[in-house]
Amino acid sequence: MQNSVSGFSKFTKVEKIDWLISNHFQDNPSAKANLERYWNSNAALQKLHDEFTENTISNFYLPFGIAPNFLINNKIKVIPMTIEESSVVAAASNAAKFWMQRGGFKAKVISTTKVGQVHFMFHGEFSEIESLFETIRPQLFEHTKSITKNMEARGGGILDIKLISKTAQLKGYYQLHVTFETMDAMGANFINSCLEQIASTFKTCSKEIHVVMSILSNYVPDCLVRAEVSCNVEDLVTDESYSGREFADTFIQAVQIAEVEPFRAVTHNKGIMNGVDSVVLATGNDFRAVEAGVHAYAARSGSYSSLTHASIEKGMFRFWIEIPLALGTVGGLTGLHPLVKTALELLGNPSAKELMEIVAVAGLAQNFAALKSLTTTGIQQGHMKMHLLNILNQFEATDKEKLQLVEHFKKNTVTHSAVVEAIEKLRA
Ligand code: HMG
Repeated sequence: MQNSVSGFSKFTKVEKIDWLISNHFQDNPSAKANLERYWNSNAALQKLHDEFTENTISNFYLPFGIAPNFLINNKIKVIPMTIEESSVVAAASNAAKFWMQRGGFKAKVISTTKVGQVHFMFHGEFSEIESLFETIRPQLFEHTKSITKNMEARGGGILDIKLISKTAQLKGYYQLHVTFETMDAMGANFINSCLEQIASTFKTCSKEIHVVMSILSNYVPDCLVRAEVSCNVEDLVTDESYSGREFADTFIQAVQIAEVEPFRAVTHNKGIMNGVDSVVLATGNDFRAVEAGVHAYAARSGSYSSLTHASIEKGMFRFWIEIPLALGTVGGLTGLHPLVKTALELLGNPSAKELMEIVAVAGLAQNFAALKSLTTTGIQQGHMKMHLLNILNQFEATDKEKLQLVEHFKKNTVTHSAVVEAIEKLRA
């Protein structure tokens, strides 16, 4: 086949780039120069990044920003955020500043249980597999001892192993549903190693057991954290154009719409994930796992719904989030990526539980800022104000032009066409 390649993984980095440029970029030297431009001049650092994944040919930078003034459980935090989208860090900082003056955020981990499953097929009687399982159950724990020893010393390990029949959904399908406590580790490797050992012991009890796969679940409804803000309704006023009560009522209606309307809930939760993902990424955690688990949780009732909720009780406005987050502060990238280490240090080297609280707060803050804008000025005013520099960069505006245009747009609404018009006018 044209452009197919064999043994590519064995090529050196330079050979990989040369192959790519000649086969996919018509030997265009600027494509090669662009890839090389992002190499780090520090060879050791570059090698570290090359080895995070496979077939690495360059680095892909994302901004590393910080949002100050987060008062969380009475401690002030500066939150690191890795994200490319304009206005997210500004929105988080804005919400942090707002709540700093109103008692800050309260956050609490509700539970930390993680899940893994051995999926298998068995076509005999349920009573037969049940009795086999009960007989071999102690060995399932016993045979994982060499894997669980260190985790147990830290207070974690395998919590329980249950046999579950799924035959009503799929003929012959059963699972060993295993629950884990992984302390400060996200625990994926630990869980998968335990599961593979459990599966290998389990299948020795009958030739009729066909193990399909053994893998952790990224759905972690029992690894849950709650974050909350509250204040007197009248203290919500920041603008004379509305009262605290008016603000709270409209804000709560916006949340209620996201609770009942999936089209709105998805965007509402996307705004929450702006905050969640950026901290998850900055602290070297797996944002794909978090995303998958969070959205499954948001749909647990059978209808996709809001992750946040709001109410007024006895004159107090309350706004909260409950979100499943399987995070780690040891293992994986946390001890490898230099900026991840800095991010964790900035947060005071938190435990996994503390990081869960911080991430939930970032999600709640983000949602507060977005809803505050959406229900008052509209989102575009603030978002486009922050996006202005991106548009100016697209038109390769000089520093002098940027200064003049930023000044101009302090008094004028930012839209793409308004910026284009202003640049053309300035250049003419
Ligand atoms: P503003 O009131 O015009 O800001 O808000 P300001 O200039 O008066 O500054 C007030 C504070 O905001 C600052 O305090 C900062 O904390 C922060 P200070 O530092 O001056 O003491 N702030 C900034 N921080 C860093 N860099 C900046 C900056 N500017 C202000 N350049 C703001 C402007 C954008 C913050 C506000 O309009 C806002 O929060 N908007 C919401 C923006 C948002 O949600 N963006 C997310 C992307 S949109 C999206 O994808 C999600 C969405 O679809 C979700 C949904 O539908 O629910 C909206």
